[in-house]
Amino acid sequence: TGADHRRTFRGLRGCRVFTAATGRGPAPGVTGRKGLRHAGSSAVRYPWRNQRGRTACLRRGRRNPVRAESQPVDLGHRGQLILEDVQGGKFCRLLGRAHLYEGLSVQDVVFPVRAIALWGVRTFILTNAAGGIGRGLLPGDLMLITDHLNLLGENPLVGTVGDELGDQFPDMSVSYSSELMETAELCASELGVGLKRGVYAAVKGPSYETPAEIRMLSSLGADAVGMSTVPEVIALRQMNRGILGISLITNWAAGLHDGELRHEDVLRVAGRSAQMLARLGIKVIERHLLSGAPGSG
Ligand code: HPA
Repeated sequence: TGADHRRTFRGLRGCRVFTAATGRGPAPGVTGRKGLRHAGSSAVRYPWRNQRGRTACLRRGRRNPVRAESQPVDLGHRGQLILEDVQGGKFCRLLGRAHLYEGLSVQDVVFPVRAIALWGVRTFILTNAAGGIGRGLLPGDLMLITDHLNLLGENPLVGTVGDELGDQFPDMSVSYSSELMETAELCASELGVGLKRGVYAAVKGPSYETPAEIRMLSSLGADAVGMSTVPEVIALRQMNRGILGISLITNWAAGLHDGELRHEDVLRVAGRSAQMLARLGIKVIERHLLSGAPGSG
């Protein structure tokens, strides 16, 4: 319930932006003890991954006030919550996320974003790794998510989620903020980084798609395919939060290129481009979210 979320995250109010970055880790200089200091003595437990190989209880450590201890099932996804200061504003970065393919419920998957939204965070930058299907998307490209296809067979708003969280039937016709997309494009061009636009299809995985499935996704209008993000977007739309979604294209989707699709290769490309994505995220935060623009914060 909302009250549970609130209790769990007590003491971390005031964060302005949340990013769920894929990839191996934060960009150098972005995180560190200095950035974490303002977390002060908050006692934070972050039970979105449980014991038995999915441990990631965020709690106060001796060296860092807020740090997850995790042994994620998927080594590509660490469970780590980091609080940082960017130009005087606080922001919160979540490295690693929970996925349906780990056998977690969709409620577990959206727990972190719901909880963080309940602290008062209004704007979320969600990133992911995805296979490129259309629009000339190549491995290493970044794609702004303009819209999505929910092919997960799950929706976090099924059942009851307390009134406190918002409308159970939220409008999804404009889920990704066009203002944030424009800011991201501006920032990307300043950084000399290409940024395409496209539709993201979420499938449950964890097996990759067959070539026939990719042809199907293509005919449905998907430009990229991945196994995440959409549950969080739905949960955040219910809570009326601003969302920027960016896919890092790690591979050609199945059947579009010779050769096998291997998870290690996906992780390698994700790791290589994670810093670029982090730089872009920080720039967007500086430019838009700390500028006092409407809806920022
Ligand atoms: N398919 C699904 N999920 C993915 C892919 C893919 O090709 N690449 C990265 N995540």
